[in-house]
Amino acid sequence: MKAVAVFPDKRELHVVDHPEPSLESPTQAKIRMLDVGICGTDKEIASFQYGTPPDGDDYLIIGHESLGEVLEAGPEAKKLKPGDLVVATVRRPCGHPECRACREGRQDFCYTGDFTERGIKQRHGYMTELVVEEEQYLNVVPRELRDVAVLVEPLTIAEKSLAQLWQIQQRLPWGCDTGVDKGPGHCHHALVLGAGPVGLLGAMALKLAGFEVTVYSRTHSHADKDDIVDAIGANFIPAEKYSVEQMAKETGPIDVVYEAVGASSLAFEVIQVLGPNAVFIFTGVPGRKAPIQVDTDLIMRDMVLKNQLVFGTVNAAPENFQDAIRDLGTFRQRWPSAVNAIITGRFSLDQAIDLVTSDKGGIKNVVAVAHA
Ligand code: BGC
Ligand code: ZN
Repeated sequence: MKAVAVFPDKRELHVVDHPEPSLESPTQAKIRMLDVGICGTDKEIASFQYGTPPDGDDYLIIGHESLGEVLEAGPEAKKLKPGDLVVATVRRPCGHPECRACREGRQDFCYTGDFTERGIKQRHGYMTELVVEEEQYLNVVPRELRDVAVLVEPLTIAEKSLAQLWQIQQRLPWGCDTGVDKGPGHCHHALVLGAGPVGLLGAMALKLAGFEVTVYSRTHSHADKDDIVDAIGANFIPAEKYSVEQMAKETGPIDVVYEAVGASSLAFEVIQVLGPNAVFIFTGVPGRKAPIQVDTDLIMRDMVLKNQLVFGTVNAAPENFQDAIRDLGTFRQRWPSAVNAIITGRFSLDQAIDLVTSDKGGIKNVVAVAHA
């Protein structure tokens, strides 16, 4: 079967002929891949910055944002049946008995760093025709979400962030009692940095949680981004017209920052305008650039005197996938065209190499491996 693979040693990227997988345990299922989303991680792997083949292989099949259809379920894969749509998680546990996170199914918090990730680190990914996976790593998605369910994985980043945010803010009287359930973020202002798929999906999740939401980003050549921000009732502040300081004057006190650009210089500028009791959430992974100057005294003073908190978050747990599936359904009901507009284009598997090695623009490009 066809697969898109990177050969890190040779620094090459090819469509390869990979052996078809078959069920190796009764709890596995065979999946026909339908959609695979492309993100910055894939582009970085395709430019040989990281990405590790499984032990003994010289190539790694890329792709980690998936949607597939169950073809065959093993006799003990009881929650799955042929025809079910599924989104697979990405990370698999390390083998160390002392890693409590991995032993409890929370490999997204792996202590040892010896986790593996499909399409990224020592496990083949999803940009291929057929995949075999354990049922526990598969999340069933309702049929109605067929054309957008490939967005579930990038949305899990926001879901894991929010799950942590609710826990963290239990440290103070934070929620606003309105008598009506306007969501846990009601009466708070969230700032999203960046308007790529992670930023836009994050903005939707924050909006759904009741926040007033501002997206601060460079205006994109792709006008759809501002339209999406508008459609969900968030404010867009263009970074080329407003400095961080000017932006902060417009927004007033910022309670939560959801960083989704991976630009540390911008992030550390924004940290300086955080409001009291605010939480700054890092999700981007910056490439290494030249060191910059930051007023660390000011940042440290504010962090202490304003009870601020900064945390980073990566990958996601099964419950975050469940939340993402539920919320994507709600987004779809509330803002149907905005959700659809996040997916810019669908391309064939043969076009995938061009997609990951060039800048096609747009928001989320998807490799449509099969149509169903
Ligand atoms: C994926 C995560 C993964 C991370 C680091 C991201 O693009 O969405 O699942 O953990 O890359 O490899
Ligand atoms: Zn990704």
